[in-house]
Amino acid sequence: MTAGLLVVGTGLLGTSVGLALHGDTDVVLADRDPSALQTACRRGAGRAWDGGERVAHVLLAVPPAAVAGELVRLQRAGAGETYSHVCSVQAPVQAAAEAAGAEPASLCGSHPMAGKESSGPAAATAQLFVGRPWALCPSARTGAPALAAARSLAERCGAVPLELPAAEHDAAVALASHLPQVTASALAAVLLARSAGELRLAGPGLQDTSRIAASAPAMWVEVLSQNARAVAPLVRELADELERAAAALEAVDRGRLEDLLRRGNAGRALVPVKRGETDRDFAVVGVSVPDRPGQLAGVLVSAAEAGINVEDVRVEHLPGRPSGVIEVVVAADTRDAARTALAAAGWDVLA
Ligand SMILES: NC(=O)c1ccc[n+]([C@@H]2O[C@H](COP(=O)([O-])OP(=O)(O)OC[C@H]3O[C@@H](n4cnc5c(N)ncnc54)[C@H](O)[C@@H]3O)[C@@H](O)[C@H]2O)c1
Repeated sequence: MTAGLLVVGTGLLGTSVGLALHGDTDVVLADRDPSALQTACRRGAGRAWDGGERVAHVLLAVPPAAVAGELVRLQRAGAGETYSHVCSVQAPVQAAAEAAGAEPASLCGSHPMAGKESSGPAAATAQLFVGRPWALCPSARTGAPALAAARSLAERCGAVPLELPAAEHDAAVALASHLPQVTASALAAVLLARSAGELRLAGPGLQDTSRIAASAPAMWVEVLSQNARAVAPLVRELADELERAAAALEAVDRGRLEDLLRRGNAGRALVPVKRGETDRDFAVVGVSVPDRPGQLAGVLVSAAEAGINVEDVRVEHLPGRPSGVIEVVVAADTRDAARTALAAAGWDVLA
């Protein structure tokens, strides 16, 4: 029997690919850690590879440092016709693969812009890639079949393929992913010297900005080290921004503080939040609800009955109060209709 896809590395990424392709492609799985492989198989991501079966495409979902060695070994064994990887950094992985003697025509680097703070097969989901950009970074020597296979894999996982050169990719992720990681880690590290009492008032601001500080250190040390040349100048730029903010605070300089906050508003408006659209394309309708089971479902049913497409939902619990706020995110041009419909259905729509 010939499988369609071999996934090497059944962690968060590899298992999520297997789950996403369930029912579409015959997937075989391999991992050097038998318990990771067993969990991925049990979750339905595919069946264990016997080490000899040939496949159409091999996806390397292992840490960047392991790609070159695995690739050369599998290519020499003739395991697949084409190969791709999903590394967060592209140019150094491509260079390492070529230096290790990999055959370049059958390889296409790729990187799904999707992930989580948690790793391993237990954290995997079939929906991880849906609607997310998936960068395809063919080298000058990548052949058309390898690029087509990487593109097809991204599409079958529900992602949106985006072709760009490896160096351009590495500069873009330094800004979009690696700078935020360093920023969140540095912010959360500041909390260590604080008492539990000081953190009692922590709310969504601290929760949102420190969320990715929970990421696995080992993987990130590798990613940041590989892309250090692109990330370091951005961290310096942020440090300068923070230095100026500290000076403005020490001088209680309202003008400079306002300038920072206004530039922050303008920068935030540039960030794509969904399908490439920015915050400006969406509006939030707040609904105050009692803290009782079924309220969230009730609000969503009312929105659906009124034909309102809900783009996202956030729930804010008010500490110590028997009520909370459901924030229903809708397309900006349906905001008024959503407000009217939810109020007409009896919900307490906030001003
Ligand atoms: N986690 C994310 O948010 C994210 C997002 C996009 C891309 N990536 C990339 O995906 C890749 C995998 O990341 P992950 O988050 O799934 O990691 P993970 O730690 O969840 O899984 C990695 C798996 O690879 C296995 N492995 C390591 N070396 C191996 C080898 N030589 N042979 C076989 N298996 C091996 C490990 O046992 C582990 O099960 C990395 O290259 C990473 O840069 C991660």
